[in-house]
Amino acid sequence: MSAVPSDSPRLSAEAFRRIDRELRKYPPDQKQSAVMAALAIAQDEIGWLPKDVIGEVAAYLGMPAIAAYEVATFYAMYNLQPVGRTKITLCTNLPCALSGATHAAEHLRKRLGVDFGETTADGRFTLVEAECLGSCGTAPMMQVGNEYYENLDEARVDKILADLK
Ligand code: FES
Repeated sequence: MSAVPSDSPRLSAEAFRRIDRELRKYPPDQKQSAVMAALAIAQDEIGWLPKDVIGEVAAYLGMPAIAAYEVATFYAMYNLQPVGRTKITLCTNLPCALSGATHAAEHLRKRLGVDFGETTADGRFTLVEAECLGSCGTAPMMQVGNEYYENLDEARVDKILADLK
């Protein structure tokens, strides 16, 4: 267990307790191994990962802030700016594009009224583009929150959006 930062931490005591649970999975001198889980916990609480929060996580794990920042910027699941309540990530990489992702992207943009990187006016949805979501064989593919949806076509996109309302 690490010492909770004393000068007005952004994360709650509960978030640090959750990070401590992750830390128990690793040897005490390997706390940085919990960085992905700790960043996910921080994002869960704040909604996104401001630089000072990334720094707070890094300090708690005893690692340089830049190393935690590199992790946060590498993986598409981390939000480096505020997002809507539901983040929709569509893979537009070649295998998905060849299987209809371009059309799905057009349909999503039209349905939500936003472009990639934008959030709907009501703050409900943020639409983002991903390079690969690891399911190229069942392309096109998108992630909605923590759920994955494959073999997308217009009707399936409509059903997914309808189920979210
Ligand atoms: S290219 Fe789209 S999931 Fe891999």
